[in-house]
Amino acid sequence: MKKIILLVLAIALSGVATFANEPDSAYLFAYTKMQNEGRSGLLFAWSTDKENWHAIGPEFGFVKSDYSRWGSEKRMIKPFLFYDTDSLWHCIWNLNNTDEAIAYTTSNDLQYWIPQSYFISGNDLDIFSAEKINAERSKQQQISILGKPESGTVNKVPWTIVAGLIKKVQLTDYRNQLWSETTKEDVRRFANLKSVEVSIIPDASKPKKISDMLVGAFFEDINYAADGGLYAELIQNRDFEYDPADKEGRDKNWNSKTAWRTTGDVVFNIESESPLHLNNKNYAVLKVGTGAAAFINDGFDGIAVKAGERYDFSLFTKSVSGKNKKLMVRLVDKDGGILAESSATISTKSWKKLNTVLLVNKTVADARLEILLPQNEVIALDMISLFPQKAFKNRKNGLRADLAQSIADLHPKFVRFPGGCVAHGDGIENIYHWKNTIGVLEARKPQRNLWGYHQTAGLGYYEYFQFCEDIGAEPVPIVAAGVPCQNSAKHGHPLGGQQCGIPMSEMDDYIQDVLDLIEWANGGANTKWGKVRAASGHPKPFDLKYIGIGNEDLISKVFEERFTMIYKAVKEKYPDITIIGTVGPFFEGSDYEEGWKLATKLNVPMVDEHYYVSPGWFIYNQNFYDKYDRSKSKVYLGEYAAHLPGRPNNLETALAEAIHLTALERNGDVVHMASYAPLLAKEGHTQWNPDMIYFNNTTVKPTTGYYVQKMFGQNAGDEYIPCKTVFSDNNEKVKNRIAWSVVRDTKTNELIIKMVNLLPVNANVAIDMSAFQLSNPLVTKTVLSGKPDERNLTPVQ
Ligand code: AHR
Repeated sequence: MKKIILLVLAIALSGVATFANEPDSAYLFAYTKMQNEGRSGLLFAWSTDKENWHAIGPEFGFVKSDYSRWGSEKRMIKPFLFYDTDSLWHCIWNLNNTDEAIAYTTSNDLQYWIPQSYFISGNDLDIFSAEKINAERSKQQQISILGKPESGTVNKVPWTIVAGLIKKVQLTDYRNQLWSETTKEDVRRFANLKSVEVSIIPDASKPKKISDMLVGAFFEDINYAADGGLYAELIQNRDFEYDPADKEGRDKNWNSKTAWRTTGDVVFNIESESPLHLNNKNYAVLKVGTGAAAFINDGFDGIAVKAGERYDFSLFTKSVSGKNKKLMVRLVDKDGGILAESSATISTKSWKKLNTVLLVNKTVADARLEILLPQNEVIALDMISLFPQKAFKNRKNGLRADLAQSIADLHPKFVRFPGGCVAHGDGIENIYHWKNTIGVLEARKPQRNLWGYHQTAGLGYYEYFQFCEDIGAEPVPIVAAGVPCQNSAKHGHPLGGQQCGIPMSEMDDYIQDVLDLIEWANGGANTKWGKVRAASGHPKPFDLKYIGIGNEDLISKVFEERFTMIYKAVKEKYPDITIIGTVGPFFEGSDYEEGWKLATKLNVPMVDEHYYVSPGWFIYNQNFYDKYDRSKSKVYLGEYAAHLPGRPNNLETALAEAIHLTALERNGDVVHMASYAPLLAKEGHTQWNPDMIYFNNTTVKPTTGYYVQKMFGQNAGDEYIPCKTVFSDNNEKVKNRIAWSVVRDTKTNELIIKMVNLLPVNANVAIDMSAFQLSNPLVTKTVLSGKPDERNLTPVQ
């Protein structure tokens, strides 16, 4: 079986051949299965007599709708296919049953389809009138496939087209088989293998310069990574800006009062007249009667505090009477025990900030904050905040020290922020705008997080840049390319997905925002935006070197236009900044191809690649970058991870990633940076698995994959030493599960040898060190090993 398919592979590589007993032409039926609302995409069946139809695949989707939200909206309804005078195949389908939105794509071989465009039906497409579309649609007919009636379009095509489609399915099946190999079957697969002998012979005479920026960190506010996570604020919903829209109405308990409650005779309302700031319109109004009363916040799943440590408490307040009134503030444990207390006095009718410090007497994981309210008074409160003084590097408005340290320990050469999809947002209104995230906290603009919760923006651009500086990493901000995420819902727009992008009339302002970001980061304190940075406490420029434009976007015309405008403007004003383009969410496909084409056309210095793939993909794609054209853009592998069914982060996934990292080092002349994604995940609030570091309020739980990143991050080089290798077993499946990399750090003169073995048997490796002049070197060895499904392994020295 496999041999036959291997032959198919050979045939596919040398073009599609026809054989003597094959027809010259056939009828091709294009349709989709409406039983699953077109989720399997565009299907084909062929026939020579229009009677007997043979499904190709049989459910291989040659085009899948990429419109709008995952799940409910990526649907293909009533597709029709036609060939036109431009020698192209055109495919059009409806996107839903409720409005007139349609999708459009083209192909010249029915296999490779360009990125899709979405329109409101009735509006002319670029090249076809509504009349023409209706005429082609009316050619739909019903035929029976495997006894089931299906509706679609029939076209007569050369047999080579059909043969090409069949071979594409076979080749895809074959490679999927390889890529789905896991260690579960390895014991059987390698039953006869006892051990492997490997000789590695480095050739020190031909070192290759490689990037010294290879391993970095990808930070996104996903899985409560920011609020309730890295951002050290302990009060949840401090600004009363939680909104049912954060959860799109799915959680009826999620509103501006979330995480707050009262005890005693208190009426608790949210008001928004004369707010602290227009960006922060809500505040709490508490009408207190007689008797003891308190306003309570439970933090993010409780407030974790440590004995002997100090916490900065602050709030903005005003009272109706304007008389001096005392507020007692305290931290209380589950049993009502007082952990810390202090007081502050309200004395004004207008907003005033009060500060006090709470010194904690006992370590607890789940304290609550209580503000004891003055009797017979009406008071307004906002921005109620509690920060550990021992934040990372003791910064104010700082980061949780243990989490920040675990990131710092990776020795990341760069930190990417603010995402991921958070950067381009769920709809145009949700695009992340850096200017909303700087300055005093009460003036920052909180917003809905596309992962289904709330972003205070307390962890904003200033804090990201400061963190990078604190850990010696280059900041890599990613700005939207003038389009939101292609997976966006409509949110009031006629179309979902990219929603036609930021309107052209607003693009100049948007581009100016991007230019202002660079001035804010790098300009002197005498520049408009440099002055703003200086006023925040950082007179020295941050020395920004990189900026990413776009995040794995659909490379539509709407995207291309906007990306090009932003790219040209940044390049012209800041020629020294390395601009990073984007080439879609996969390692292949139309966004990858068209993204690369655009980057090559515009001479974009670097592109951001993303792929979440199986360990098998990493095993069989070690030469992915060896074939890259060195004269084109450099690569930033901005998001990657090995995904197994069930999505664990275990030794198997970690070793697959380690195999890939050795390939990245070997290709460090073209791959400039790489970051595993996502970085952080809070237990109980995780939307995505696997992640690199899990945590709760008190404990940081690095995964096995974390230690692989750390081993590569802490042991980076800037020169790659090529090696010859000899294996005792030449079986490709054996060889592909062993990887190595030899690099040198020319600054420290360290030689670093990494070896990865994903086989269920020992690899006895002999390294010929004669190529190096070594006199009594200090040798250290670190080993990470265990069973493939182990999740909490740590390296041993
Ligand atoms: O890393 C999680 C998500 O994966 C990112 O937000 C997005 O860019 C990708 O699809």
